[in-house]
Amino acid sequence: MSSELIEKIRQRSHELDPCTQSNYSKFDVKHTDLSLSVSFETKTLAGVVTYTLINKDASNEVILDTSVLDINQVKVNGNSAEYKLGELSMYGTPLIIPIDSKQQEIQITVEYNTTDKCTAIQFIQGDTGPYIFSQCQAIHARSLFPCFDTPGVKSPYKFTAKSPSVCTMSGRPQPSSQKNIYYFDQPIPIPSYLVSITSGNLKKAPIGPRSDVYSEEPNLAACKWEFEKDMENFIQIAEQLVFEYEWERFDSLVLPSSFPYGGMEIPNMTQLTPTLICKDRTQTKVMAHELAHSWSGNLVTNCSWEHFWMNEGWTVYLERRIVGAIAAAEAKSQGKANPEEYGEQVRHFNMIIGWNGLIDSVNTMDPKFTSLVWDLENQDPDDAFSRIPYEKGFSFLFHLECKLGGLKAFDPFIKYYFKKFRYTSLNSAEFVKTLYEFYEPLGKASLLDSIDWNTWLFGSGLPEYPNFDTTLADQVFQYVEKWVTTIQNNGDILQQFSETDVESFEGEQEMLLLETLTEKFKTMKVSPDLIKKLPEIYPKYNNSGNGEFISRWNELLISFGKYNATDPIVQKFANWIGSVGRMKYVRPGYKLLISGVSLEFAIATFKRFENNYHPICKTMVKKDLGLDV
Ligand code: BES
Ligand code: ZN
Repeated sequence: MSSELIEKIRQRSHELDPCTQSNYSKFDVKHTDLSLSVSFETKTLAGVVTYTLINKDASNEVILDTSVLDINQVKVNGNSAEYKLGELSMYGTPLIIPIDSKQQEIQITVEYNTTDKCTAIQFIQGDTGPYIFSQCQAIHARSLFPCFDTPGVKSPYKFTAKSPSVCTMSGRPQPSSQKNIYYFDQPIPIPSYLVSITSGNLKKAPIGPRSDVYSEEPNLAACKWEFEKDMENFIQIAEQLVFEYEWERFDSLVLPSSFPYGGMEIPNMTQLTPTLICKDRTQTKVMAHELAHSWSGNLVTNCSWEHFWMNEGWTVYLERRIVGAIAAAEAKSQGKANPEEYGEQVRHFNMIIGWNGLIDSVNTMDPKFTSLVWDLENQDPDDAFSRIPYEKGFSFLFHLECKLGGLKAFDPFIKYYFKKFRYTSLNSAEFVKTLYEFYEPLGKASLLDSIDWNTWLFGSGLPEYPNFDTTLADQVFQYVEKWVTTIQNNGDILQQFSETDVESFEGEQEMLLLETLTEKFKTMKVSPDLIKKLPEIYPKYNNSGNGEFISRWNELLISFGKYNATDPIVQKFANWIGSVGRMKYVRPGYKLLISGVSLEFAIATFKRFENNYHPICKTMVKKDLGLDV
């Protein structure tokens, strides 16, 4: 039964990664040596990459992915060699290197330069000097170095960086006797999308016994304060949940504001957006998320971006387990009764927020990208990206947890799965197969048989509504009900509501409040005049510096307030989306300007700020605004 099922699942997705033009399946990568030299003058990198390959299939050529690179020279086994460039497509330009098919182990070296069209790096002016950072996920590594640019290939690395300023790369720092030369060693095999370089006037401060945080000097103390309370606790909880942390150190780097994501799980050097530094530790769960990737994604990796849900769904699952365990530990230290139960309430509360995000994304995304497994043939994975792989992936794992008998029954599987697949990359069929392999001997195959795998993995839209514990959400829902009845009865809202109402709420409950009000107001006829009174009722949301509040609060105001472009509310919000680079805020921000003000104003705002944005962010916003890319 199960083997037929798994074969069926396997057949519904590609055998090989469709987003690479390389012939990666013919080779094993024994080792990679990558050296990058930074020029802040020309805003390019000079690179040398050397691969030690095992030719598994007697191939007579090596084909690597490249994108907008200038290739200077190719060597095979140390000797200058012929090469060809294939045709340019949406996946870049393949670099084709003829080799002797009879030689089992072979060394390929490519010397090259990046160009100003590189989509993986951004040169910027930092607060204290010139700065460069890279971001390769999903398929931008090919514009940083020629590679088998698929998460299906892993290699141990040695990295060298040359730069007048401090460098970090995706490995453990090694001693260097030369000024301006930095060495890093990554003994654990990693895929190309985790390769990274940062260089700038970086300083570091300890935030745990095996963790430093890096940033430029002016923000360093604030970064340290934000994370030092939680860092080591996060690692220890994750170690109990999965198994020991294998990467030795977990350091992180808070980037300048144009960093386009919340965080990025670079091995040994997690990258973080500065929007996390909100001085109240309310966004540390992003750190928990990136830490969780040390197991899900970095040790155990999706074999192509078609199975991206396995990276992110698992990571959100682990992140929520960590957040729940921290809440339980805090409740315990405060002497509360049933701390474990409270931890679960917090975990479920986070699931409810996640579910709201899932509904939003399912409503706005192209239906073909609302399934767990994607078909990415001739697609840019950046276009498929949304919260769906995170939240639907999470829902799938939570569904399995519940079906199989709750935490106690699911926890041993977590350890088994991550041990089995560490250092490798896998697809969704192998995941399902492993579930059967683990639970069949425990007499639970029939539970697995009752799962509708086809709908879960390949169906579009929302999955079935999970059974959430709503204890913490109900407090918010009751308060929102008061809003609804007051409006229906034409009550005086200035008299009925004030900021003191929400004093007893936790930060996350307040976020749910703003989201739920927005949802309710969509279904009611709420006058713009009423909306315009909200800043008076809740001045703290209006003055917040926390992106999670700023984004939700402005969605509430600008969606229903009929403000015009010159209104200070709109101006302030437009300036904010120009000053942050995190796509989670920037992209919905422009969409809000389109729907709440005008397309014209959204485009004019984008033109004002486009040069601040990272190349990936700029491209995505242009697509959202209907501008040529
Ligand atoms: N790996 C992702 C970021 C990413 C995904 C970059 C796809 C490029 C392509 C990272 O781990 C992530 O998920 N970040 C989230 C954090 C959040 C879910 C806590 C983000 O950036 O918002
Ligand atoms: Zn992630």
